[in-house]
Amino acid sequence: MNEAATTAIRIEKTQQSRLGEVDYDNLKFGQVFADHMLVAEYANGHWEDVSIVPYGNLSLSPATSALHYGQAIFEGLKAYKFDNGAVSIFRPDQNHARFNKSALRLEMPEVPEEVFIGGLKALIGLDRDWVPQTAGASLYIRPFMIGTEAALGVHPSDSYKFIIITGPVGAYYNKPLRLKVETRFTRAAEGGVGFSKNAGNYALSLHPTRLAQDEGFDQLMWTDAKEHKYVEEAGTANLVFRVGDTIITPSADTILHGITRRTIIEIARHWGYQAEERKVSVRELVDGIKNGSVTEAFAAGTAATLTPISEIGYEGQIYTLPDPDEREFSNKVLRYLNDLRYGRIADEFGWNFMV
Ligand code: COI
Repeated sequence: MNEAATTAIRIEKTQQSRLGEVDYDNLKFGQVFADHMLVAEYANGHWEDVSIVPYGNLSLSPATSALHYGQAIFEGLKAYKFDNGAVSIFRPDQNHARFNKSALRLEMPEVPEEVFIGGLKALIGLDRDWVPQTAGASLYIRPFMIGTEAALGVHPSDSYKFIIITGPVGAYYNKPLRLKVETRFTRAAEGGVGFSKNAGNYALSLHPTRLAQDEGFDQLMWTDAKEHKYVEEAGTANLVFRVGDTIITPSADTILHGITRRTIIEIARHWGYQAEERKVSVRELVDGIKNGSVTEAFAAGTAATLTPISEIGYEGQIYTLPDPDEREFSNKVLRYLNDLRYGRIADEFGWNFMV
C-alpha cells in the first residue's frame, strides 16, 4: 500500500506562463493559481505516474466516488521568498504526517515522502517565480487527495488522485475577528473525524457560519458536541489565548491539530512562557475576559496566520478583548514568525525546507 513511487516525476512545462497577468499588489486568498500542478495516480495498490503538468481542469466520471461519499482530504501550507530570492517551504514534514493521518481515518492510501515532499520541492522549484516577495504575501500550497473510482457502492475507492496546486496569496482575514460561540450546531464528536483535514468538516460548517455571519460575526467558535461547554476551534483556524503569563490552546481529538498552533506553542515554551494544551471552558473564557485575566486571543492557522480576535459573542452577550495593538505575546510571536519564514533571522528550529 504505502510503497515509494516507482517512477521519477515527469515534467511537462506550460507553453505560456500566466505570471504576467497577476496583480501582486492586490492578492486575495485562493483565487489565482500558478502555472503548474502535480498529479499522482494510485491504482492496483501503489502510486504511479507522478507528473507535473500545466494547471488545468480534471476530467472525472460523474460517478467519481469522492463526489458522492466524500473520500477527500487536503492540506494547507506556504512557501516564502527570502530577501535574497531563496525560497523555503515552512514545515512540510508536519503537513505530510497530518495528511497521512487523515488518509488513514478515511481509509485512503498514505502518500509516500518522495511524492509529497519530493513533489512539493519539484513543483515549487519550477514555479518559484510565483512566490511573492511583497510583505505579508506567500505562495499557498494545497495538496489534496480524492477517491476516483467510478462506482456508487459505499466502499473505499480502488483508485485515487493526489494533486498539489499552488497560488500566491495575501491575508485570509484582513481585520480582527468577531467570533460567535456556537452552542447549537456541532462540528465534530469524539470518535469522529474532527482531527482529520477532510472536505466534509468544512462543508458542515457553512450553514452555521452563514447564520452567524447574518448576525454580524465573522466566524464561529465551535464547542464540544456533548455539552457545548468547551471551546474547540474556529473551523478555518485554531484558537490560542493568553491568561496571565500562560499561553493556552484548546486540545481534544475533535480539533484539527494545526501546525501554526503547534509552532506557536513550541516558540512560547522556548521563550519561557508556560504553554498549556487543555480543555478551555466557555465560562473560563468569558469570565476571564470580564475580569481582565484573558488579555489576548487569536486564531492561528496557515491561511489565517495569526489573526487577533476582537470580540466573542456568547448567549446574546458580547465580550470585548483588549486592543490588538497592545497585545504583547501575539505581536511578538507574529513578528518572530515572519522574520523566520522570510529568512531574516537564523532558523534555530530547522523549520524552513529550502527549495
Ligand atoms: C489552512 O489554513 O491552510 C486551511 O486549510 C484553512 C482553510 C480551510 C482556508
